Amino acid sequence: MLSQTDKRRAVGPRRHRGGALSWTWVVFSSIAIAGYFVGQYGEGTLAELAPDNVGLATTYAVRPWPVQIAFYDHIVFAGLSLVLGPWQFARGLRRRRPGLHRAIGRAYMICIALGSVGAFVMSFFSSAGFDGFFGFCSLDLLWAWTAWRGYRAARERDIRSHQAWMLRNFALTYAAVTLRLWLGTLLVAQLPFVQDDVAYQQIWNNAYNVIPFLCWLPNIVVAELMVRRRGLPALRLVEPPRVVRAAE
Ligand code: HEM
Repeated sequence: MLSQTDKRRAVGPRRHRGGALSWTWVVFSSIAIAGYFVGQYGEGTLAELAPDNVGLATTYAVRPWPVQIAFYDHIVFAGLSLVLGPWQFARGLRRRRPGLHRAIGRAYMICIALGSVGAFVMSFFSSAGFDGFFGFCSLDLLWAWTAWRGYRAARERDIRSHQAWMLRNFALTYAAVTLRLWLGTLLVAQLPFVQDDVAYQQIWNNAYNVIPFLCWLPNIVVAELMVRRRGLPALRLVEPPRVVRAAE
């Protein structure tokens, strides 16, 4: 019979392989989504891309110029954050090149600071209307807040809290990927009911109405489960009361 230590040794490498596979998926999906969805806006101005219905060009081509600046600010810096983020979870890189981890971390924070300002402005003009405003604006505020908590924990050398906050934060950055996966899934699920172009517009609206919340709510739940499974400090809405010892 295997002892507890033997069992842990036997399970260890498999879990490690699973972790490496998930990480590889996160790297590839992040680079692919950032490359494709940001890259498409490099092929022309919003006005030039609008007639071909490229991404959200039709929505933003008619917005005032400050909103268009917010749009470009957002896609460039949020796109960069998505490409930079996954490397911070590579344990080997963190251990061997701590200086690089810090440099990427600072760049990631700057990207979130800039990208979240753009997203905040855009959420008032979202193509998903009220839903878009509430969903994307909540995501944006949580995105900036978790980044700030993670940064502060790192500055205070509270590494375990730093890991927990950055896990939550990247789960929100990764909403850019899960948004597109959910959108595709919801569109395909409704395809059997499409007979004409009007119905196509309808299924798009149906999907896009739930997307502003669906793209990030499950992510944050998964992140919290990962935080707990790794034994990192779990999220507390209320701080536990301080124990004050009476003078002996
Ligand atoms: C996590 C915080 C984020 C928030 C709050 C946010 C918010 C938004 C909002 C409000 C829009 C406009 C949606 C509409 O009008 O319907 C948008 C569009 C967009 N965002 Fe983000 N975003 C975030 C992260 C990212 C990331 C990490 C990327 C990286 C690829 C990204 C790339 C884009 C792109 C390319 C668009 C244009 C839409 C498209 O072509 O699909 N966003 N975002």
